[in-house]
Amino acid sequence: MKAIIPAAGLGTRFLPATKAVPKEMLLVADRPAIQYVVEEGLASAADEVVIVNSREKHAIEEHFAPNPELVATLRERGKDAYADMVEYVGGLNVTYVYQEEALGLGHAVLCAAEASAGEPFYVLLGDVLVPGNGMLPAMQAVSDAHGGASVIAVMPVPDEEVSRFGVIAGAEVSDGVWKIDALVEKPALEDAPSNLAVFGRYLLTPRVMELLAEVKPGVGGEIQLTDALDALLAEEEMYALVIDPADGFDTGTPASWLATNNILSERL
Ligand code: UTP
Repeated sequence: MKAIIPAAGLGTRFLPATKAVPKEMLLVADRPAIQYVVEEGLASAADEVVIVNSREKHAIEEHFAPNPELVATLRERGKDAYADMVEYVGGLNVTYVYQEEALGLGHAVLCAAEASAGEPFYVLLGDVLVPGNGMLPAMQAVSDAHGGASVIAVMPVPDEEVSRFGVIAGAEVSDGVWKIDALVEKPALEDAPSNLAVFGRYLLTPRVMELLAEVKPGVGGEIQLTDALDALLAEEEMYALVIDPADGFDTGTPASWLATNNILSERL
């Protein structure tokens, strides 16, 4: 089973910072955002973490590559704690596939179709952090309890923010677990079926890869993961697991990135 981390987006909302530095490499408290995500993937039941990268974002691969020269220099200078950090991050087991053009999240996931080898797979957005690493095992347990169904993470959001997110419609079947009837993109508050917004962690059945291959590109040629999940709902049961807002963080906009830094730096 693979943990797929899409990280090939353009990071438009962070320009000009993301002109040279990938959004996923921006520092959050004490490490680049994507390091949290890789560590979470490795802490799960997945046997491999696959980053969907863009050919332009060299810094991501340099971050996870060994750098024996730097380690040797640091050791010569007596800076062993830093040398250990560099060695640790260079030793994390990550592989890469490439998205040649940023054609949407669904397209990025589809780029890892071969790597997922017809098995269920996790998707971890490269700019969403769950530092306690508890969400993926909890999602796996929900899937196991419901015959191997797909499970997506959702987070309660304040009413005034509902119209910015994709939210679920459905019914709560046990504490914090919902059976999903529909996914509703950016609803007006009066039309919103819930305040539970889709939140960057997915455990999906292999059927999703087949459905992604059939999704018609929308605005800007983008292939949306939500469209494949909509199609999946017509065929298979799907569940949502609610994540506590204290456990999960979005770093996708300058404001949410700053807020996440403030919270996580307090926890150092
Ligand atoms: P986002 O929409 O938050 O990232 O996608 P983005 O597209 O880089 O940001 P903006 O909208 O231009 O500001 C969530 C995750 O999915 C990846 C991103 O890298 C991010 O980690 N992604 C998105 C891809 O890998 N490929 C895409 O085509 C789009």
